[in-house]
Amino acid sequence: MDLNTIGVIGCGLMGSGIAEVCARAGYRVVVREINEDLLQKGLGRIQKSLGKAVSRGKISQEQADQTLARIQGTLELADFADCDLVIEAAVENMDLKKEIFAELDHILPSHSILASNTSSLCITEMASVTSRGDKILGIHFFNPVPVMPLIEFVRTILTSDETMATVHGFGASLGKTMVTAKDTPGFIVNRLLIPYLLQAAQIYEDGLATREDIDTAIKLGLAHPMGPLTLLDFVGLDTTLFIADAMYDEYKDPRYAAPPLLRRMVLAGHLGRKSGKGFYDYR
Ligand code: 3HC
Repeated sequence: MDLNTIGVIGCGLMGSGIAEVCARAGYRVVVREINEDLLQKGLGRIQKSLGKAVSRGKISQEQADQTLARIQGTLELADFADCDLVIEAAVENMDLKKEIFAELDHILPSHSILASNTSSLCITEMASVTSRGDKILGIHFFNPVPVMPLIEFVRTILTSDETMATVHGFGASLGKTMVTAKDTPGFIVNRLLIPYLLQAAQIYEDGLATREDIDTAIKLGLAHPMGPLTLLDFVGLDTTLFIADAMYDEYKDPRYAAPPLLRRMVLAGHLGRKSGKGFYDYR
């Protein structure tokens, strides 16, 4: 199936990145936020990222302008009526996602594919409130979306071969490399990443080493771009805790049990870069 118009629900960190890469690939994009302030912030983030891409010589100013012109911001789900594919990147709340999926199921044409960018929630549960289970899947992008080359597809037992073929064509058109996982909490990347991040917070809490030494050890010892505590601040401590809790909830496996310090930092509002303080200071 040919895709022309892509809908993106949410213009936060992930939604704005997804809207940007789709528009850069030539798709018309409709992106929805819940109020004008958040929408303008999200569109501003896209503009800033395109500016960075121009200054790094990745695209020309003309391409950046054309990309921006392909993106339509909206506050209304009704504006998704001609979308061929919608990617939901709203906050990680299952009730909210189910509400959005049920509403979009009525608004979208019958051929349209509906995907979630969730990092850990059950895709089959989202599919259960629609009448198009064969056209539902997870399309999981990585932060920062314009830079990270991977897409993780999450296929449920309902997702059809035709849907998978279409989204493979879509992923290729974005220039991404794709992997596919079954609909289980954490899929591939977070199934491995979350226990690693939790363990880093735990050994810091235990006083095994300084935060700098934990990060330097992994950065230089394993050639990772960021050490785990820097990555925790980058991903967001609240996001990491949410994923860990969702995984623990389903597996009841101590590998996914968050260390007490992580929970307390989130309660204290130390969420990482986004709040100006996490394991490091950003103010
Ligand atoms: N558009 C296009 N290209 C851009 C860009 C933009 N807006 N911003 C940066 N780039 C390019 C740069 O030009 C550069 O390209 P080059 O290597 O060809 O010169 C490259 O991206 C790196 O950019 P920078 O030099 O600005 O930045 P750094 O080298 O400091 O890298 C980083 C920054 C990419 C964030 C790197 O530190 C990194 O990879 N960190 C790890 C990120 C990570 O692990 N993300 C996944 C998080 S987990 C997740 O998202 C899943 C969720 O479910 C939790």
